[in-house]
Amino acid sequence: MKDSSNKLNLPGFSVSVKALFTGYIMVVGIGLMMAGLQVMLTHGMADGKFGISVDDIVYSYYGNRSGSKLESKLNGSMADKASAEEKFIIIDWVQEGSADKEVWQETIKPIIDKNCIMCHAHMHGMELGEYEQLAAYAEVDEGASVSNLAKVSHIHLFGISFIFFFVGLIFVFAVGFNRWIKATIIIVPFVFLIIDITAWWLTKINPGFAWFVIIGGMGYSLAAAIMLLTSLYQMWIMPLRNKESNENVFIDIPKN
Ligand code: HEC
Repeated sequence: MKDSSNKLNLPGFSVSVKALFTGYIMVVGIGLMMAGLQVMLTHGMADGKFGISVDDIVYSYYGNRSGSKLESKLNGSMADKASAEEKFIIIDWVQEGSADKEVWQETIKPIIDKNCIMCHAHMHGMELGEYEQLAAYAEVDEGASVSNLAKVSHIHLFGISFIFFFVGLIFVFAVGFNRWIKATIIIVPFVFLIIDITAWWLTKINPGFAWFVIIGGMGYSLAAAIMLLTSLYQMWIMPLRNKESNENVFIDIPKN
């Protein structure tokens, strides 16, 4: 009888185990792409140009301390929401008029009502209809607030570590890797996740750390992609090519 006990690895699994792993990999793969898209659409537009750059990271976390959030949004992701002249009037109100309340009543409110309110009337925490609400955005932009950073940090740490845990668990069953290389690929996403989130906080203090946000994010995306694609390949393509393996993925057997 053929001994199947030592085929607890990706190519050797039953179709049901492969179906379970593949379903998870598909959903996580789509989720990662959606996350990438969302990053592009929010942080990616922070400097007004599409695509992630160091400037985007600095604007998002450190802020644009030479100006207000209202100005950077009007030059960035909100640039198409008002005419050049209207934007000039708003920015002039912020810079020269120090967000004066009477000027707001006469000239600024009508522009906001016409161009912005259809979206910003009921966007929670982003309402712009009242003077106080708009004036808050006219203050110097200090980037992400500490409470917001704390919130997003813990959601990321808990949520993403869950994803990496299962992605890593599936990849544990991959065969044919040097054990140190494999262990490195498995630990790397966790390390880069910590680097990424630490760098958010450091960038808030000093814009010089923005690079680490990008390196961290790219590092764990790349490691996750390697694990997901390798796992799919070993489950579905390797058996087709009659490549089976007796590798025991649970125990490192010392080579004599
Ligand atoms: C079509 C809907 C829409 C319109 C019109 C619109 N906005 Fe926005 N605005 C958004 C969305 C969605 C966000 C959040 C995403 C982002 O920051 O780009 C946002 C974010 C902002 C923010 C940042 C809020 C924050 O707390 O991060 C400011 C400031 C802003 N808009 C100003 C304006 C101004 C001024 C106008 C009018 C000239 C305007 N918006 C018109 C949809 C809109």
